[in-house]
Amino acid sequence: MDILRVMGGHRLKGSVNINGSKNAALPIMAASLMSSGEVILNDVPELEDISVMIRALESLGAHIKREGHTLIIDSSHIHRFQVDESIARRMRASNLLMGALLGRFGQARVAYPGGCAIGSRPMDIHIKGFQRLGYDISDLPGYMDGRANQVNGREIMLDIPSVGATENIMMAAVFAPGQTLLRNAAREPEIVDLQNFLNRMGARIRGAGLDCIRIDGVKTLRGTEHSVISDRIEAGTFMVAAALTRGDVWVENVILEHLQPVIAKLGETGAEIMTRPGRVRVIGNRNYSATDIKTMPYPGFPTDMQAQMMSFLCMTPGTSVIVENIFENRFMHVQELRRMGAEIKIEGRVAIISGGKLKGAAVEASDLRAGAALILAGLGAEGETRISRLDHLDRGYERIHERFQALGADIVRERTVDN
Ligand code: EPZ
Repeated sequence: MDILRVMGGHRLKGSVNINGSKNAALPIMAASLMSSGEVILNDVPELEDISVMIRALESLGAHIKREGHTLIIDSSHIHRFQVDESIARRMRASNLLMGALLGRFGQARVAYPGGCAIGSRPMDIHIKGFQRLGYDISDLPGYMDGRANQVNGREIMLDIPSVGATENIMMAAVFAPGQTLLRNAAREPEIVDLQNFLNRMGARIRGAGLDCIRIDGVKTLRGTEHSVISDRIEAGTFMVAAALTRGDVWVENVILEHLQPVIAKLGETGAEIMTRPGRVRVIGNRNYSATDIKTMPYPGFPTDMQAQMMSFLCMTPGTSVIVENIFENRFMHVQELRRMGAEIKIEGRVAIISGGKLKGAAVEASDLRAGAALILAGLGAEGETRISRLDHLDRGYERIHERFQALGADIVRERTVDN
């Protein structure tokens, strides 16, 4: 297993280019199987989750060529409609294949995604939406099985604005005759990107980014070419790193609109933020102020940035309060930060942080964003931090240690002899 060794105390300087969004690419890759035409996707990051989705699509019969950040997907020979447990357990987002397979083929059998460190991750809202559209969904041991049975456009109300459920139901409704209205839909930018991709293939979807999405059924979808939007969470991760190391970093190839919650929060702590079209500059400050964070569905503060901000606030004088409103168990990074001397009190979904100094220690990533948070803590801590379980990091960040090195961080990735 590899580990990262991070020596704290180096200010980050320079510029970093942000990759395409993992959480936009995954639903778009699933949606690509809804057309028998060739789909070319650009700006797809080279990540473990993307590789798992490629394997999932190939297991259904799709042919995929990867050339750097470009994927060429041919779904004209899909002959299988089952996503096996070996894949679904690896990555929750493989459940997005359910909506795409139901939409195009009227049948799908997808293994329940494993829960993971951050919560049980149920599928009840997805299933209710599919049933409302006229798909019969049955519970087989370990699998959801879906069959079309009088599929029609319907009004659907989501109990909570679930990102995955919004995407899955949108795909399952693309060919549903008539009109589907998806109310209380999630408003994340990745859903807008999925809508835009589907419409380029010939779908008729309006309203993504708002809380009511309208889908008018069409007969078929053609192939297309699409570039995936920039990753707002990767951008936010580098922005927080620049602030906490009191550096001066230009974060390039971003969509400023998508970064507003993070820009606002970093501004509240006292970091200096400058924006130009497509880029944002974060300049660290000598004195920072504590602040409070409540994670919310977009356009609120993103839950995927909660751990990274916690690392920063652990080193910011004063008391900060973080409320995690999205996932029931997304404080797994707290125990690791405590090993570095962080003073954090947990009361259910509330974390109370007393800012101070962190000391390097041996810590373990529990999930993708916790791993990123531990790198940030290591960058600001005194001494050396050694981070294990980099498999979590590799799921969502491409060559992250090289990109931090290029900004002046003292960080190396080492292969350890497996004991
Ligand atoms: C997406 O997950 C993202 N993943 C997550 O990013 C992100 O944290 C999350 O949205 C929230 O923004 C991808 O896009 C691939 P949800 P998703 O359905 O769709 C509950 C990362 O780090 N819920 O919006 O699974 C659920 O348990 C990952 O990149 C139900 O109760 O999130 C959670 O508490 C982590 N029933 C809440 O809703 C359902 O049927 C929000 O989940 C579905 C969800």
